[in-house]
Amino acid sequence: MEAIQTILTRRSVNFFDPSFKMSDNEITEILELAALAPSSYNIQPWEVITVRSPERKKALRACAFNQPKVEEASAVFIIIGNTDAVEENLDAVAADLVEKGYADEKTAESVKKTAGGFYGAPDSERRKVFAARNAGLFAMNLMIAAEGLGFVTHPMDGFDEDKIKEEFGIKSGKVIPMLIAVGRFKDGASLPDRKMRFSSERFAKFE
Ligand SMILES: Cc1cc2nc3c(=O)[nH]c(=O)nc-3n(C[C@H](O)[C@H](O)[C@H](O)COP(=O)(O)O)c2cc1C
Repeated sequence: MEAIQTILTRRSVNFFDPSFKMSDNEITEILELAALAPSSYNIQPWEVITVRSPERKKALRACAFNQPKVEEASAVFIIIGNTDAVEENLDAVAADLVEKGYADEKTAESVKKTAGGFYGAPDSERRKVFAARNAGLFAMNLMIAAEGLGFVTHPMDGFDEDKIKEEFGIKSGKVIPMLIAVGRFKDGASLPDRKMRFSSERFAKFE
């Protein structure tokens, strides 16, 4: 199955072709596929800033401990966990439930109340975890989508979150689980062996 092949071949790549520019359509396709990720109550608490101009990549690199791939990749996605998404998105999510016949109006209203209460106040720790959890799934889906379309990626959490928020005008209460560099693999480069993984015997148990 293609999904298995993609999981097997995806790598965090440090060799981007710096001359390659992805088109807006290619970037949009990746984002639309990434948005098929599952999310709590389908609230989809993610936002993305796609950084692709040389000047803005340079500014982002300065926030990301000077990691060269930030400038060498065609684009870098700033993945944002939107802690305001419960308030912003629940109406549309509930309307969709009614439209698709998942729920009647009354049930949709009660879903709104339950979901609205379940993830804490917008500035709470619980809300940050909720946003980061869902944005993380979005991020993984994005990497798989990019890989499936023939691109390579590299996730990064080596950055100064406050600095990125200031530079890119992101509200301080939101969370940035990671950046993802995306682009084309550099001709002639070869990947080192994949780093080790612990076996499931070590990290999982059956009950
Ligand atoms: C959330 C997250 C943050 C990461 N941050 C960085 C980073 O800042 N710089 C870097 O070079 N690699 C970073 N990595 C890449 C990991 O080192 C890499 O995924 C791991 O070594 C396994 O390699 P693989 O992805 O090629 O299988 C990050 C990976 C994840 C998932």
